[in-house]
Amino acid sequence: MFLGQICLFAALKPLSVCAHLFEGNYDLVPAAEPINLRINLTDPAYAKLQKKGGFVVVEEVVIAKSNDGNFIAATVVCSHMQQKKITYSKDQNAWLCKGHGATYTLQGKGTNEHGKNGLRVYKVVQEGDFLQISNFN
Ligand code: FES
Repeated sequence: MFLGQICLFAALKPLSVCAHLFEGNYDLVPAAEPINLRINLTDPAYAKLQKKGGFVVVEEVVIAKSNDGNFIAATVVCSHMQQKKITYSKDQNAWLCKGHGATYTLQGKGTNEHGKNGLRVYKVVQEGDFLQISNFN
């Protein structure tokens, strides 16, 4: 209950304050705002998602088809210096920031110094030809 009160307070402060509360557990990145996207995979705008390693950016969300064929999603905003340069790296099977090279696991855990604050990732559910992208609860 006390921790909940702290997080409620921290929600009113910059993200770095809340990240400090989870010191040593950098892969926990609280959702900043609700995400609720639904895309139609048959839409030509998302043709890149037909191939493993392909990705698109929709409303500041990077949606990718990973090397193992799963659909994944993360914010396009890097936690290092908030540049909107997150991509999916097919070569590393990881989230990669083109800004200064931050790397993150597909679950959002930072794997180098620039990525140490973790990356916000989203839940992706496939329903036929549609993908539903939302926050993890
Ligand atoms: S802004 Fe992404 S690594 Fe610096």
